[in-house]
Amino acid sequence: MAHRSIRQFTPEKLTDAEIHTLVDAAQHAATSTFSQQASIISVTDPAKLATLGDITGHHWLERAGHYFVFVADQYRNQQLAPQNATTTANLHSLDKLLAGIFDATIMTQTVVTAGESLGLGSTIMGSILNDVPRLIDLLDLPELTFPVLGLAIGHPAEQPEHKPRLPQDLMHFTNGYQTITPTDPSLVAYNQLIKVYYQQRTTNQREETFSHHIATELSRDPQQRAGILTGLQQQGWLQG
Ligand SMILES: Cc1cc2nc3c(=O)[nH]c(=O)nc-3n(C[C@H](O)[C@H](O)[C@H](O)COP(=O)(O)O)c2cc1C
Repeated sequence: MAHRSIRQFTPEKLTDAEIHTLVDAAQHAATSTFSQQASIISVTDPAKLATLGDITGHHWLERAGHYFVFVADQYRNQQLAPQNATTTANLHSLDKLLAGIFDATIMTQTVVTAGESLGLGSTIMGSILNDVPRLIDLLDLPELTFPVLGLAIGHPAEQPEHKPRLPQDLMHFTNGYQTITPTDPSLVAYNQLIKVYYQQRTTNQREETFSHHIATELSRDPQQRAGILTGLQQQGWLQG
């Protein structure tokens, strides 16, 4: 419940022991069909970190204590499984792509939680997908792999306020889906809560309700990440 994303870090780098523990935690997460179809790339080369800063627009990641990229990975299983037409077709399927994305995503959150239990803070980065072809090239990713999320992690140098989440009646339903209308009293109250949060938080104050925030997000150009589909196809997925 104490989670918040951390974007400012002390200069202290993570130790090898801390990195080992975080990867160990990631490996203990559940994995679809026990296929262990995700890999983790630690990025330590300053030039590569600078490129990640360019891709994400988050140059502050270069000052994190460590940087991980979580990768959906069916390539390792392709290498170790006996090859035949069926296994090859299966590895290229949407099902196996999703399994890799599930495993990589669950690993990411596991590292976030494990890090927080050690007093570390982090920010998950979907913005590594702003330029998928460049990222694939940067990390030498072979076919049947795909970069899912980045994670900047380190010793926190800020204590941001907790961002209030939706009231549970707007997101936890019983026995079936319940549609929310814009005038739902719970939503109106939540919009007011978020407005006060943005007005009062210590950094980057602004006037914004949750509904307005969502409208802004939806107005972004979907072409901005057009490289995702190209990248998936380049890596051997969604070609049919
Ligand atoms: C899949 C995913 C992708 C995200 N990508 C980014 C990102 O690229 N840059 C960033 O600054 N934060 C990113 N975040 C962090 C969210 O902005 C953050 O979790 C959200 O605003 C809620 O704030 P909190 O984590 O402090 O509670 C991402 C979070 C998730 C789950």
